[in-house]
Amino acid sequence: MALSGSSPATDGWSSRTAFVLAAIGSAVGLGNLVRFPAEAGANGGGAFVLFYIFCVILIGLPVLLSETLIGRHGQSSAPESVRKVAEQSGASQKWEWVAGLGVLSGFLVLGFYGVIGGWVLDYIWLFMKDLLATGISGPAFQGVPVEEVEGFFPAMISNGPVTVICNTLFLLVTFAFVVRGVSGGIEKAAVWLMPSFFVLLVGITIFGAFRGAFSESVAYLFTFEPEKLTGPVMLAAVGQAFFSLSLGMAGMITYGAYVGRNVNLAGTSAIIGAADTSVALIAGVCIFPIVFAAGLAPNGGLGLMFQTLPHAFQEMPGGSLIGLAFFVMVGFAALTSSIALMEVPTAWLIDKFRLARPVAAVIVLLGGGVLGALSALSMGVLADFHPLGFIPMFEGLGVLDTLDTLTGKLLMPIGAILVAVFVGWVADRRLVDLENGLSGVLHLFFLFLVRFACPLALIAILLAGIFPDLLV
Ligand code: PFF
Repeated sequence: MALSGSSPATDGWSSRTAFVLAAIGSAVGLGNLVRFPAEAGANGGGAFVLFYIFCVILIGLPVLLSETLIGRHGQSSAPESVRKVAEQSGASQKWEWVAGLGVLSGFLVLGFYGVIGGWVLDYIWLFMKDLLATGISGPAFQGVPVEEVEGFFPAMISNGPVTVICNTLFLLVTFAFVVRGVSGGIEKAAVWLMPSFFVLLVGITIFGAFRGAFSESVAYLFTFEPEKLTGPVMLAAVGQAFFSLSLGMAGMITYGAYVGRNVNLAGTSAIIGAADTSVALIAGVCIFPIVFAAGLAPNGGLGLMFQTLPHAFQEMPGGSLIGLAFFVMVGFAALTSSIALMEVPTAWLIDKFRLARPVAAVIVLLGGGVLGALSALSMGVLADFHPLGFIPMFEGLGVLDTLDTLTGKLLMPIGAILVAVFVGWVADRRLVDLENGLSGVLHLFFLFLVRFACPLALIAILLAGIFPDLLV
């Protein structure tokens, strides 16, 4: 039985740094900047945050390492990589369906991720116009009543033409990188956009810190109140950790396939996990001082970014410029994540049907565009269309929320459980040992987590997603 990796994919990362930046680019996205602060806000701050960190280390990292090791060993699109590992382990090649499910969920996530990316584009435009009118030192939206500023968001999301156009634009920019391939496009985006993202994040955070509500925000995010750690809060934290690390959607298997054999996957997975978590925490420390300093409440949901923050920028000297920088930063993060989401099905089409990359990428662009348009319209003219409304867990949900629930509560946990079971129980131990870069106690600990802790925690979120009453 040959346990060495298959021949390298023809296109790949040009260096370890390029891989690390691209994987961080995939992980750091709307999940860190929109969802994490909103979830922390909705779930009572510190209890959620600390449990989140615990989940990343003990449940997220082993699955991240499992995904990248499958990809690196297979050096192909995600399903083909899983098939190769299964074949070399003497297991059924049907295991490729595990990653097939991941490819499907990556595509479905793209179908709503691009819509939110499009909203971000619209806000960049809004702040750009405001900056031209106000100048760099003024607060945002001078003379505009607060209700109107907070009203931009509902007006925008229900405006079909605007959201469809913005989603299409966002997907076209994503496509422009994916179509150029791994080293010529995806890597270029990561290498330029991620460092710019970090500069903006640190700059805005320092600016926010000087606004005065810094210690209040740190206390809010890190004060651990055990009574707030309820079942729903814990499950929200596990789900968020997986979404944020891009797991269960074949994304990290796909990116792992472009990694050279000399890279230590355990070390790089730890760097990716640490960077992703630090960005989520810094995003909290960046956003909450701005909100608190304006005397506003840290509410949960999308309103935090698209209503509360613009209101806070209205109260802040230089708010127009900072607001623009903020949404540009969110746009960079969203773009490098949607590139990963588009690459997952593109790589599969190339591999499965021997398509040229431009053809495969155009198919995904068109499919994602149609799905995205339906999602975009679900806040307006299609508000009463509930595609899976006959199933209790999807009752009353429009297209966007259906895709979010379907992927987050079903496909992602199922995909991640199967990846953990595959690496923990099915794949040949020697192959796993060869790829994972761990030794001694750490290696045994990894096996323990991937065999027992990860599947159990993920089964819990799957069950809680399907039967929410179990938690009450
Ligand atoms: N991790 C991204 C975020 O936090 O926004 C979302 C994501 C990207 C999920 C790529 C899955 C993926 F393959």
